[in-house]
Amino acid sequence: MHFTSKMAGTATVPPRDERETRLREAGYNLFNIPSEAVAVDLLTDSGTGTMSDDQWAAMVRGDEAYAGSESFANLEAAVREVMGIEHVVPAHQGRGAENVLYGALVEEGDVVLNNTHFDTTRAHVVENGGRPIDCPVDGALDPASTGDFLGNFDVECGRAAVEEMGEDRVPAVVVTITNNSAAGQPVSVENLREVRGFADEIDATMVVDACRFAENAHFVQRREPAFAGTSVADIAREQLSYADAVVMSGKKDGLVNIGGFVGLRDESLLDAVEQRAILYEGFLTYGGMAGRDLEAFAVGLREAVQESYLESRVDQVRELADLIEAAGLPVYRPVGGHAVYVDAGSAYAHVPDDRFPGQALAVDLYREGAVRGVELGSFAFPDTDRPEFVRLAVPRRTYHREHLEHVGETAAAVAERADRAVGYDIVAEPPMEELRHFSARLEPAD
Ligand code: F0G
Repeated sequence: MHFTSKMAGTATVPPRDERETRLREAGYNLFNIPSEAVAVDLLTDSGTGTMSDDQWAAMVRGDEAYAGSESFANLEAAVREVMGIEHVVPAHQGRGAENVLYGALVEEGDVVLNNTHFDTTRAHVVENGGRPIDCPVDGALDPASTGDFLGNFDVECGRAAVEEMGEDRVPAVVVTITNNSAAGQPVSVENLREVRGFADEIDATMVVDACRFAENAHFVQRREPAFAGTSVADIAREQLSYADAVVMSGKKDGLVNIGGFVGLRDESLLDAVEQRAILYEGFLTYGGMAGRDLEAFAVGLREAVQESYLESRVDQVRELADLIEAAGLPVYRPVGGHAVYVDAGSAYAHVPDDRFPGQALAVDLYREGAVRGVELGSFAFPDTDRPEFVRLAVPRRTYHREHLEHVGETAAAVAERADRAVGYDIVAEPPMEELRHFSARLEPAD
């Protein structure tokens, strides 16, 4: 599928001295760079995509009623149809849904298991007094490994945690599809079934973080032999049929700029979740979204499972990986669904981990070509043992070949001066360590 543009935005590469000044003023933290000074913005694929003409058309029908909005009924119908989830409690975005759900599930001293916690998920578990434990499969965090479903949840790791903590301390087992913190790798349906069995054994709630559920379904169709002849739409529902609860950020596979929800299969958690949603997100028929946002979300969910769209989406991410690798920077393979993960630990092998080689490489991509990515290594995930990744996430339906080529040329400039790269020291950071990469300030190390 090809997309045409009906609205034009502009992007330029600011001159080199301006890029240097911007970096200094930003405390070498790319979250502090104004978007007008970014040429290709690969900070995130979240809320940064381009909506379709059908979505814009639907927005005009937005019913802005506080209670009983027809637009909410439309979203609810789309979630039931596309995801097979019965109860929909809307939230303004994924972390709003996380706050609502994990606040209802997690108590002081609990442990939450996840194939890999995303940064906001980790922070919400901690905020509720819980301990997040990651259970990725062997090789998931090894840039040199290969495998079709490196995003899977390692059930043996989960069992070991239960043995240590006792099963009454594990209220939730979470599977994040695709596994964002593990290079956007997919999770197989077989693994979801296995986790379902494990959650039943320990009487835990099985949660699926579904924000990239459509991309995951695409990989299942391509890689899991039992599903080779099944439509993505059917796989999408099958994957989620194992979950008791779903947290959804519509900013990814909802193809919208804002929105999210908690989805529940039955009514056991519904009351607790609804009461928290009213308190934190808004009444149950808007949840922090405008009526027009609800309409766009309903249309976006249906578009997200179209096979020709998903094919062009995943192909574009792979095309970017090929260009970066050809430019001389090592990338994680197989390439994930929404982003290219550059292995900064090997590109900048001389920069020690406590000087954040990933952050150094992300800063250098901005310095050389005003390309913005994000570090997802030891700067973003303190005290976890993980590779020094820089993630270049591709907004949906937004960039063209010329943008990808600019990133490739920028990667070549970074690779060319890699041996002269310096690390960074943190000079100011916020109190909550899980959130430090959003606002910490850094300085080049001597
Ligand atoms: N879960 C996962 C797996 C995510 O990737 C994100 C967001 C969230 C939850 C939270 O959703 O942003 O709508 O509040 N990920 C974005 C990213 C921010 O850049 O990967 P949100």
